[in-house]
Amino acid sequence: MDKIIIHGGKRLEGDVRISGAKNAALPVITSSLLTDGWNTFHNVPDLADVRTIKRLLTGFGVKVEGGKTLRINAGEITSCEAPYDLVRTMRASILVLGSLVARMGRARVSLPGGCAIGARPVNLHLKALQAMGAEIDLKDGYVEARASRLKGATICFDISTVTGTENIMMAASLAEGATVLENAAREPEVVNLADVLKGMGAKISGAGTDVIKIEGVETLRPVEADIIPDRIEAGTYMIAAGLTGGDVNILGCRPDHLDAVTTKLKETGMKITPIDGGLRVVGNRSITSVDVKTLPYPGFPTDLQAQIMALMSMGGRSSIIKETVFENRFMHVNELIRMGADITVDGNSAIVRGVSTLRGAPVMATDLRASASLILAGLVAEGTTEISRVYHMDRGYEHIEEKFSFLGADIGRIKG
Ligand code: UD1
Repeated sequence: MDKIIIHGGKRLEGDVRISGAKNAALPVITSSLLTDGWNTFHNVPDLADVRTIKRLLTGFGVKVEGGKTLRINAGEITSCEAPYDLVRTMRASILVLGSLVARMGRARVSLPGGCAIGARPVNLHLKALQAMGAEIDLKDGYVEARASRLKGATICFDISTVTGTENIMMAASLAEGATVLENAAREPEVVNLADVLKGMGAKISGAGTDVIKIEGVETLRPVEADIIPDRIEAGTYMIAAGLTGGDVNILGCRPDHLDAVTTKLKETGMKITPIDGGLRVVGNRSITSVDVKTLPYPGFPTDLQAQIMALMSMGGRSSIIKETVFENRFMHVNELIRMGADITVDGNSAIVRGVSTLRGAPVMATDLRASASLILAGLVAEGTTEISRVYHMDRGYEHIEEKFSFLGADIGRIKG
């Protein structure tokens, strides 16, 4: 297994270009299952999760070509089964359920198992499909769904769910009649998917608000569309700039998707200004401790909680970081403590008392965003940090060592 080695203490300077968003690419790629013909998607990131969704689609008989510009033709679907081996590596595989049932009338998708950041059930996806007339059976670890044609329904999600909203939006696009999604997720990735579906001919309004209306149509046509920039990747580089007292231009990001992040990071003392094509972030060696509460968009994203904890580890005082989206997303805490951070977890809150120095250590990535927080800590730590299990990081950060090296970090990978 590969390892990342960082010799900390370098100030980051220069430009970093943000890649396409993983969490937008996955549903957008999946949406091609709803069409017959070649779809073209631009700005697709080269990530392990994107390779997994491509493998899933190829397994259905779908033709997939290209990389950053990806062409997909789901004219012929020969299998409707998403096998355990692929689903277990990527929970977002559940996204294929809605579109397969809508297009093919059936799907068999392995149930995603437990995961490092909590139970993460898919009950809301299933409940919504049942409300649309699908018959759902759970057998041998698989969800089996059938419906001759899904019917529009009014669905109120008990919890705001991102992939749940996306799954049902895709299903409803080909359903008979109107679907209303209440308490829908408002994430920019949901809007990206809605725009792509609209380009295919779907009738969707309200994406970006918590009520989305979808008027089902008989067929959808292929589309050419762009993947939005990754706001979580952008936020990670912004935090890196702040933590190292650096001066970094975050290029190709969407500042309007980063409002909550920018506001919070400014409170910590960073200077963040709009520039042509992105944001300039200038760090301040003395980091002000601030409290953080994760929330669904437009709140502070749970996918940046681990990274801001690395920043707060070096804060001037104490801060409380409250995780409200997932019930067990503090796996990175013990690893940060191994690097000298002073953190106590109390239920869904972490009390982070700032220290003046972090020290390099061998640490282990436990999930995707946790791995980013360890890189951030390693960049500012004295000595050498060796991060194992970086396959988590490869799921969601494109060319991360190259990007950090280009900014002046001393970072490399040992293949293993
Ligand atoms: C998506 C993102 C992930 C991000 C998360 C929250 C993708 C591919 N992944 O994950 O990076 O951390 O949003 O912003 O876009 N829940 C249920 N039942 C369900 C569905 C969800 O109880 O059927 C709960 C979850 O356990 C969690 C909360 O709802 O506590 C929000 O989860 P959700 O928005 O669904 O996360 P994902 O879509 O899996």
